[in-house]
Amino acid sequence: MSELTDRYQNKERRRERRKLRAKPLFKKLAPRLGLAVYRYRHDFHYCPQIYGAGYWKKIRIQEIGGFKELADKVIADHRSLLYYDRLYILYQALWNVRYLASDAVSIAEIGVYRGGGSYFIASVAHQLFDREPKIHSIDTFEGHPDDIAAEDDSHWPGKFGDTSFEEVKKYLSVFPNLTVYKGRFEDRCAELEREKFCFVHVDVDIYAPTRACLEFFSERLLIGGVMVADDYGLTTCQGCKQAVDEFVASRKNYLKFHLETGQSLLIRVG
Ligand SMILES: C[S@@+](CC[C@H](N)C(=O)[O-])C[C@H]1O[C@@H](n2cnc3c(N)ncnc32)[C@H](O)[C@@H]1O
Repeated sequence: MSELTDRYQNKERRRERRKLRAKPLFKKLAPRLGLAVYRYRHDFHYCPQIYGAGYWKKIRIQEIGGFKELADKVIADHRSLLYYDRLYILYQALWNVRYLASDAVSIAEIGVYRGGGSYFIASVAHQLFDREPKIHSIDTFEGHPDDIAAEDDSHWPGKFGDTSFEEVKKYLSVFPNLTVYKGRFEDRCAELEREKFCFVHVDVDIYAPTRACLEFFSERLLIGGVMVADDYGLTTCQGCKQAVDEFVASRKNYLKFHLETGQSLLIRVG
């Protein structure tokens, strides 16, 4: 019996050795060079293990009907820095506030850049809402202002300046309920003083304007309304996390979720 077991074990070892020998050279060398080699799968990125071994079972959000067509459009237009993951959060946030929406209620995007985010928000609102809200899109359209505090190496005056107010206005002109404002949020927000909001997308990357946006919209967002602050939790946008954390720490009426997409979801609950 023991002879039989030995023979079996030896056979297993030989098979293992053969498998190792058969491993292509690049697979053997890659870890020594600090590289990992994976089979190519179309539309897949290498991702960290926090997603667990069952990650492959997840449905493909970029194929969800209703969402897919609208996200495909702005991605194909190369108009947004947001990809399917973050756009899908915006889509869901808008879906959840659809009962709050009316033509007397507003939506805002602060940090518009080339217009793709606002285009997506406006097209989702058009698809989901019975009565379309007013949409306000605000940006300097000259990039980060000159007087931004030196927060980190990732942001500098004029970053995102490769856009044009006129051109974005034209791109967004298909939505009659959407207004584009040129200027710093801090200088233009007085024009929205009397509005009530059901959804706000804050995508300005740095501390001061993020904080200014959250303070401004705090009491103007309807109960049940949602704000999404982009770039939350990114090493390159630490000012954004600081602004959001300070904002929720000073209030009891906001729930905050840190999403793995690099966004923070703020829900007004009282
Ligand atoms: C990351 S981009 C926005 C990306 C955009 N939401 C998209 O979908 O691609 C950040 C924008 O914030 C704008 N920004 C920064 N500070 C601002 C301020 N104080 N007021 C208005 N816009 C500001 C910049 O001009 C820049 O266009």
